[in-house]
Amino acid sequence: MSGTEANEGCLRARRVVETLKEYHPPLGGRQGLRLDFNENVDGCSPRVLDTLHAMTAETLNKYPERLAGEVAVARTLKVAPEEVLLTNGVDEAIHLLAETYLEPGDEVLIAVPTFSMYEIYALATGATVRTVQANARLEFPSAALLAAITPRTKLICIANPNNPTGALAAREDLLQITQAAPRAAVLIDEAYIHFGGQSVIDQVGKVANLFVSRTFSKAYGLAGFRLGALLGPVEQMKMLRRVASPYNVNGVALECLSAALDDEGYIDQYIAQVFDGRAQLEAFYRAQAIPYWPSQANFVLAYFGEYRQVFVSEMKQRGILVRDRNSDPGCAGTVRITLGNRQQNARLLRELPEVLAAIGFTAQPLPSAAAPEAR
Ligand SMILES: Cc1ncc(COP(=O)(O)O)c(C=O)c1O
Repeated sequence: MSGTEANEGCLRARRVVETLKEYHPPLGGRQGLRLDFNENVDGCSPRVLDTLHAMTAETLNKYPERLAGEVAVARTLKVAPEEVLLTNGVDEAIHLLAETYLEPGDEVLIAVPTFSMYEIYALATGATVRTVQANARLEFPSAALLAAITPRTKLICIANPNNPTGALAAREDLLQITQAAPRAAVLIDEAYIHFGGQSVIDQVGKVANLFVSRTFSKAYGLAGFRLGALLGPVEQMKMLRRVASPYNVNGVALECLSAALDDEGYIDQYIAQVFDGRAQLEAFYRAQAIPYWPSQANFVLAYFGEYRQVFVSEMKQRGILVRDRNSDPGCAGTVRITLGNRQQNARLLRELPEVLAAIGFTAQPLPSAAAPEAR
């Protein structure tokens, strides 16, 4: 009996799920200074912690009520509450877009390298994912993406600023893409917008196929809450609400949301520390002749070539986690490092030269002629 025949009477996942590649970020063992996941490792607003401490059993025993949170987010982002859907992180926003719009055979366009979950949720629906590769400078491939749009294009996902490159897409280019693909939902994922770039939120509701996502996982320091927001035109948001669970966002996160939104001072001082750290890290890379990609986010991607693995493990030995991005398309030999608060950045910059000396590092030019900082 063949293997397939032996499986015939058994429960099988859908075929596309069986062929889905596995995305396995570490789900444990991340002790140390976590400069690997673009989290805000400084913490979160003390007002959020005060709200948490003041919570009673009622927060936990009642089903969460999302509406007040949507009104609060709408007020902060200057959109209508009906244009906002709170989600279980941006991850769920992407998942809901895929579930709402994609049928098997539809095409999804993604500029790579970028955040992995766009591809995973799209493939899981049976849609076809077409990737558009960025050039050696890892700039947003606007013209190539426009050229790849077809009548079957149903979803386009763009992170702006992008992860793992920190690159920006120009606002005019993004709006041109929405016009060129009127049958497609165009998601502009602004997870890192606090750190650079120009938002397109002011176009929500004006552009019929434009969606914007925001997260509380990065600048707000609330990755553990799993809280995000999807914004889009009211008629489309009605469709997304049909697919979403009414209780997709947990009550603890919802109760803390206003405290997080209102403490703008916390966000501002954290962002200022990231900007300082980013400038220092980029200056360090320049001084060492290490190629890097100028970043508009809270992390910087740099090229360590054949030293990549030993660099990541030596950093780990010293209690600093950084992210190997070698397997991202166009990112061979690269490592991404997240910035933290002033003390954490100082520790990073103290350790870096010692680590490079310990591993006998010699800077290598990028294999391609176009070194990213040599613009
Ligand atoms: C571009 C981008 N979008 C979304 C996310 C995930 O956001 P959330 O924690 O809100 O699910 C990440 C996380 O790294 C990201 O890099």
